[in-house]
Amino acid sequence: MSRLAVLGYPIGHSRSPAMQNAALAALGMGEEWRYEAIEVAPDAFEARVREMPGEGFAGANVTVPHKGAALALADTLSETAREIGAANTLVFADGEIRADNTDAGGLLSALPSSPAGKRTLVLGAGGAARAVVWALLREGAEVEVWNRTERRSASLCEELGGQPVAAPDQANYELLVNTTAVGLRGEDPFAELPLDPGRFAPEQVVADLVYGQEPSRLLAAAAAGGATVVDGIEVLVRQGALSLQIWTGREAPLDAMRAAARR
Ligand code: ATR
Repeated sequence: MSRLAVLGYPIGHSRSPAMQNAALAALGMGEEWRYEAIEVAPDAFEARVREMPGEGFAGANVTVPHKGAALALADTLSETAREIGAANTLVFADGEIRADNTDAGGLLSALPSSPAGKRTLVLGAGGAARAVVWALLREGAEVEVWNRTERRSASLCEELGGQPVAAPDQANYELLVNTTAVGLRGEDPFAELPLDPGRFAPEQVVADLVYGQEPSRLLAAAAAGGATVVDGIEVLVRQGALSLQIWTGREAPLDAMRAAARR
């Protein structure tokens, strides 16, 4: 039996076990592989990870609040994980812990087309924003970053690139990505973010990393304005697909993963 897991704190809400076990079953690997959820507090994280290879784990996903700690404890880092400064995927092989980040590639593969050359607004400057800004710049997008706390968007752009923006003009962007937590607890995105529900347009793509309530109020308004929308579940599925590929070497069954993640 090869084991996989997602580590977080809390972890009860995670859709990754259902999604990844559905993927393993669809690939005919359900007998030999199992994916579970492990709740672990920050002070116990490193010790727990170091036990995993000896317990039959081949790899793990890491989510909030452990993405920085996962990077710090790894023996080898992918270029993506190192540059973003966070890891969401660990591989246990050859007596080593390798760290990777599939959040960046997951966002890119969830988008309907390449963001190269597109005027882009990223909302937020936390951990999720770092992967998004890094991915978009890497693809050649023009990136502006708005954050409630301006000093955080300024320092994110200093480190990764992009331009901080205090009062973005919504109509000016071809791609808008919400990485803030707004919406998670039922907040009104149009009260908390510099966006107007009536000003989305058909040529825009709007992505919202928040999931839970589908569609989010942000995406419902964007779709009503004719924009193309990408929801947080699709981004979750795509990052999960890339992680599964790293662990198993197999092409991920996206439809089975989507169906399980949305159930
Ligand atoms: P994550 O790793 O998920 O990005 P985080 O580092 O806690 O988590 O970042 C959360 C992001 O959501 C931040 O950009 C935060 O803005 P601040 O830097 O100003 O705190 C943003 N956020 C959370 N609640 C918000 C709200 N009510 N209005 C606007 N932004 C909010």
